[in-house]
Amino acid sequence: MDKLLVHGPCKLNGTVKISRAKNAYLPILAAVLLSDKKIHLKNIPELQDIKTMIKLLQNLGVTVTKNGNITTFDASTLNSHEATYDLVKTMRASIFVLGPLLARLKKAKVSLPGGCAIGTRPIDIHLTNLEKMGCVIHLTGGYVEASVPKMKAAHLLLSFPSVGATENLMMAAVFAEGTTTIDNAALEPEIDDLAHFINAMGGNVKGIGTKKIEVTGVKELKEATYEAIGDRIEAATYLMAALATGSDVRIEEVDPAHLEFVTELLKKMGAKIETGANYIKVEKSVLKGCHVDTAPFPGFPTDAQAQLIALCTQVKGSSVISENIFENRFMHVPELIRLGAAITLKGKSAFIEGEAKLSSAPIMCTDLRASAALIIAALCATGTTEIQRVYHLDRGYENLVDKLKTLGANVERIK
Ligand code: EPU
Repeated sequence: MDKLLVHGPCKLNGTVKISRAKNAYLPILAAVLLSDKKIHLKNIPELQDIKTMIKLLQNLGVTVTKNGNITTFDASTLNSHEATYDLVKTMRASIFVLGPLLARLKKAKVSLPGGCAIGTRPIDIHLTNLEKMGCVIHLTGGYVEASVPKMKAAHLLLSFPSVGATENLMMAAVFAEGTTTIDNAALEPEIDDLAHFINAMGGNVKGIGTKKIEVTGVKELKEATYEAIGDRIEAATYLMAALATGSDVRIEEVDPAHLEFVTELLKKMGAKIETGANYIKVEKSVLKGCHVDTAPFPGFPTDAQAQLIALCTQVKGSSVISENIFENRFMHVPELIRLGAAITLKGKSAFIEGEAKLSSAPIMCTDLRASAALIIAALCATGTTEIQRVYHLDRGYENLVDKLKTLGANVERIK
């Protein structure tokens, strides 16, 4: 298994280009199943989760060809409705194929994703609302087996604005006769992106960017070309790495509107941040602590909580960060403590003392964003920090080592 060696402390300097968003492309890739026409997707990031989703599509019969930065998907060759355990267990987002398979083939058999490092992550909101659209669902042998004689448009009210459920239901409704309303829909930018993609394929989604999404069924879809939004969480990670290390960094190819809560919070903490149409620029700043709770968009993203904790170990004063989305998302904290951070966990909250003198120690990645927090801390720590289980990072950070090296960090990946 590969390891990362971070020779700290490191200063960063220069420009980093953000990749297209993993969490936008995962549902978009699933939505490819809806169409029997060719779909061309630009700049799909080279990430493990994306590779898993493409493999899943290929297993279902989709033909995939790559030409430069454009990957073409042809789901006219779709010949299976089954997403097996061996792939689904490696990536929860496989559940996204449920809605499109039901919409296109009227049946689907998808392995239940099970829990993961950050929480139990049930899919009840996906399933109860699919039932409202006429789907008959059985849970047997670890699989969701679903069929639908004819998908019905329905009024759906989500008990929580689940990102994945909003996406699955939007896809399920693409061909349903009439208008499906998804009330209390998630507002994350990746939802808007999926809606724009569905519309680019000839679907009819309205209410984009609101809590009430309306999908009016269409008879067929058309050939389309699409490029997903920049990865706001990757951008947030570089932003916090820059601030933690007292660096000047320009982060390009991301929409600052997708990170407004994050940049406003960091500004309140003292960060000197400038934003433009497609970039965020940050300068070395003296920061103070913060009190913040993670929340669905437009609130502070749970996917940036770990990185913020790492940053808060370096600011003046103390901070309190509460996690409200996932019940077990503080796995990075014991590892940060191994580097010398002073953090106490109480229930949903982490209490962080600032100005910690971090120094190297062997540490271990536990999930994707926890790993990002460890990198930030290692960049601040004195000495060589060895980070194990870096495959977690490969799931969501494209070219991480090269991007950090371009910014001047002394980082290497070893076998
Ligand atoms: N939930 C339920 N029932 C459901 C669905 C969700 O109780 O049927 C609960 C979850 O257990 C969780 C909360 O609702 O406590 C939020 O879950 P949500 O469905 O919104 O999250 P998700 O779709 O499973 C996506 C991202 C996550 C990100 C969350 C929240 C993708 C592929 N994943 O997950 O990203 O943390 O939204 O913003 O889009 C990551 O990239 O590291 C990551 C974990």
